Amino acid sequence: MSKRGYFITFEGADGCGKTTQAELIKKYLDDKNVENILTREPGGSELGVHLRKILLHYEKPVSNIAETFLYLADRAQHIEYKIKPALEEGKIVLCDRHTDSTLAYQGYGRNQDLETIKRLNNIAINGILPDLTIVFDVDSETAQKRLKGEKDRLEAEGMEFHKKLRAGYLDIAKHEPKRVKVVDANQDIEQVFNDTIKIIREFLNL
Ligand code: TMP
Repeated sequence: MSKRGYFITFEGADGCGKTTQAELIKKYLDDKNVENILTREPGGSELGVHLRKILLHYEKPVSNIAETFLYLADRAQHIEYKIKPALEEGKIVLCDRHTDSTLAYQGYGRNQDLETIKRLNNIAINGILPDLTIVFDVDSETAQKRLKGEKDRLEAEGMEFHKKLRAGYLDIAKHEPKRVKVVDANQDIEQVFNDTIKIIREFLNL
């Protein structure tokens, strides 16, 4: 049996630039012929595409616990039908948001009990934890400026919410320094990429 691939996740508050960086990392790995997939949460599976629409654009009130379960349903489906099979094929899985988003947004952001969120998360991921997580840390003013145009349900939460997320992510990194690395995302795209690829190359031994 071939070796299981590595699971790398990209995290950060809205406006941190992680999606651009995830695409650049994918291109870097493609150019080096390293087999990989780039996926995201919510919306990485077929069912998840439907859940993403609800999560980001449902206009009536959504209870905190309902929101949490919807993200976890998206994750469970994504793990089972996309992430796990790709890892078993030995691929590197790059994922734009994963478990730490639920801890940061629904836990730190929505003030829900962190241990409960972790327990629920563990059920959804069925033993598949990220091997490496990059947190793109950006100050709240810069992030808000980057969020142009119409905002989705969570982006519309504003500055105070963003500050809680940022503090949450830094706390997660502090508790798990081996898995979670923080990159200064206030810098320009190229510098952020240089810092990120350095971590990934070291991790993958490239
Ligand atoms: P995206 O815009 O980075 O794709 O993420 C969609 C939004 O969903 C973003 O505002 C963060 C939020 N989110 C959560 O609140 N909890 C989660 O578990 C995940 C994966 C995303």
